Amino acid sequence: MSTVRDLSFFSKPLLAIESSCDETSAAVLVGRDIRSNVIASQIELHSKWGGVVPEAASRAHVEAIVPVVREALEIGGMALSDIGGIAITNRPGLVGALSVGVTAAKALAMSANIPFLGVHHLEGHLCSIFAEHEHFPLEHVALVVSGGHTELVHVQGPGQYHLIGSTIDDAAGEAFDKGARLLGLGYPGGLAIQQAAKSGNPKRYKLPVGLRGETTDFSFSGLKTAMLRLTEVEGDLINISDAAASLQEAIVSVLTKRTFLAIEETGVRALSLVGGVAANVSLRERLYAEAQKRGIAFAVPAFSLCTDNAAMIGLAGSWRLERGERSDFDLDALPNADIWDANTV
Ligand code: KG4
Ligand code: ZN
Repeated sequence: MSTVRDLSFFSKPLLAIESSCDETSAAVLVGRDIRSNVIASQIELHSKWGGVVPEAASRAHVEAIVPVVREALEIGGMALSDIGGIAITNRPGLVGALSVGVTAAKALAMSANIPFLGVHHLEGHLCSIFAEHEHFPLEHVALVVSGGHTELVHVQGPGQYHLIGSTIDDAAGEAFDKGARLLGLGYPGGLAIQQAAKSGNPKRYKLPVGLRGETTDFSFSGLKTAMLRLTEVEGDLINISDAAASLQEAIVSVLTKRTFLAIEETGVRALSLVGGVAANVSLRERLYAEAQKRGIAFAVPAFSLCTDNAAMIGLAGSWRLERGERSDFDLDALPNADIWDANTV
């Protein structure tokens, strides 16, 4: 069985850039080793609107991109002349936000006369486990949970992705974010819900978990509506901690149930948890406990590699650059792209 250790990574120092949504990030990697991973977050900017405003995000990326790249090189102990290649998120995401990173990557590649490669954002999340889990099998099931995605992917190997299940409406992260907004906990909501839930009773409020029966798909729109109704019915009497704990429990339990159904269906003995929602401690603990019980290998990235960051884009771009993949200067920023769009065969 091949593991992460068997994969060949780019032999020269690599610069990676990510700007698909509301984080401007740059990283320097040497093989699987992350030398720097600088993230300029726009949370403060967007929190006043309660969500990401695309136009404002693009402008903030324009301001941040050069200082962030410069800082990543400095912390990584490299000059641009030491860098042998660039990995850049070019899909999917906010098109204006993506364009800032793609343009910067092209300019840097041109001036340094080095190759660059457009990377699928979700492949970045999928490869975020490569940094630390060298004995993890290359074939595994991945639960990808973020602000925009809830997907179960059968990873047969790097660049071989098959969708097992996905959300038919909203993403798990959106359910966290919407719940937090309704409870007045601010934006983004995942961490706020997790913190409020610590002292709460998860059984206090009964919330729906979407699709019934044996399925590997998800639906979170009913949960969002139920949270709205709960806050309307309870009004000021609502117990914020109990509501947060109940919401978190609803999301974690349905993600766990469907994930292990996917494990049973595929017969695969390894599971990874990736994406921004993978930072949720309750979800990490629940999946870990269930995996242990069943003898399934389990990998989850460090917290800093869960939410959007350039290091994960570097990890995904690295093995691809090493096998000779290159982008041309006509590389476009694409708002939509499914994960199988990243398949190599
Ligand atoms: O991967 P990510 O940074 O951006 C996308 O690609 O969408 O994910 C952001 C999402 C947000 O919905 C945020 O609320 C959620 O990840 N998140 C969490 C936690 N930290 C971030 N959700 C639950 N618990 C957390 N601790
Ligand atoms: Zn993401």
